Amino acid sequence: MSQDPFTPRVFSGAQPSGNLHLGNYLGALRNWVGMQGSDYETVYCMVDLHAITVWQDPAELRQATRELCAGYIASGLDPEKSILINQSQVPEHAQLAWIFNCVARMGWMKRMTQFKDKAGKNAENASLGLFGYPALMAADILIYHATHVPVGEDQKQHLELTRDIAAKFNHDYGVAFFPMTEPVIEGAATRVMSLRDGSKKMSKSDPSDMSRINMTDDADTIAKKIRKAKTDPEALPSEPEGLDDRPEACNLVNIYAALSDQSVDQVLSEMGGKQFGEFKPLLADLAVAKLSPISSEMARLMADPAEIDLILSRGAQRAREITRPILRQTYDIVGMVAPVEI
Ligand code: TYM
Repeated sequence: MSQDPFTPRVFSGAQPSGNLHLGNYLGALRNWVGMQGSDYETVYCMVDLHAITVWQDPAELRQATRELCAGYIASGLDPEKSILINQSQVPEHAQLAWIFNCVARMGWMKRMTQFKDKAGKNAENASLGLFGYPALMAADILIYHATHVPVGEDQKQHLELTRDIAAKFNHDYGVAFFPMTEPVIEGAATRVMSLRDGSKKMSKSDPSDMSRINMTDDADTIAKKIRKAKTDPEALPSEPEGLDDRPEACNLVNIYAALSDQSVDQVLSEMGGKQFGEFKPLLADLAVAKLSPISSEMARLMADPAEIDLILSRGAQRAREITRPILRQTYDIVGMVAPVEI
């Protein structure tokens, strides 16, 4: 299907559960900032409805949502240029998700690896919301007719499902209504790994805080986490092939490349031959230089939560200018009787 009739529009989001970490920043947020103010309209979301698919303490959820918004702005998203929202203030997301629950097939949902990972052995006890999560995610994107979705590697399967849902809806109702959204997975760090185990991705749900760098960590904490990061005894190679079968070394080099806006080749041509004892302090200095302005700006913004709430209310107002008509048209296509003037 041609993308032509659709306005170029970017949508992406993150869960307000726990802290923003370096993986979120390098895999997603930095690319969101790069797409802002370019050829796209940009909408960035704090997905609070997704967060409650697993238990969240209400006060902590509210705080985490504001903190995430502060993180977005501190990383360079501008509420004037981008629409910033928390998902629950734009009810059309959840309304379209219901329609998609009736489009998506059980077989598709059962193949979603994130559900299997998150529900673990105790799937019978997982919430129905956790199972249906990817249908809500498809709705987040398609309620804006978004054409591009910048994410980290781990979201790829969900974006494939989004395309399957759009295609099935269009096919079943004989329309070309929803676009085939393009995933945008770019940069040297589309999958940042745990600092303690190079086979696991860096994640807010890892019980060990040493496994990740949080955007709110201070300089000493960042330096300590990098110093203690798991590595191997070899020196760094001069060519990328030398990182094969060295997941921890590869991860630290990718992080260095992403933070310094260089390719892995460039980093290794400079760092090849160095031992980790020499490379780690350089990486720590770079990380502190890039991240500490963001964390201090986050702290400044968090001192005025009322201002954040205002930004989110304004964002929701602007978002609904887009989402209301798309939901109405969806309902018309599906056959729902529309309200009349009374
Ligand atoms: P979430 O909150 O887990 O992560 C937010 C973004 O950060 C990226 N990311 C990573 N990138 C590289 N390395 C890592 N270790 C790493 N960890 C996380 C994620 O890929 C993501 O881009 N389901 C989504 C939220 C969502 C969404 C959407 C995203 C809901 N609706 C619609 C895009 C469009 C999630 O849980 O992201």
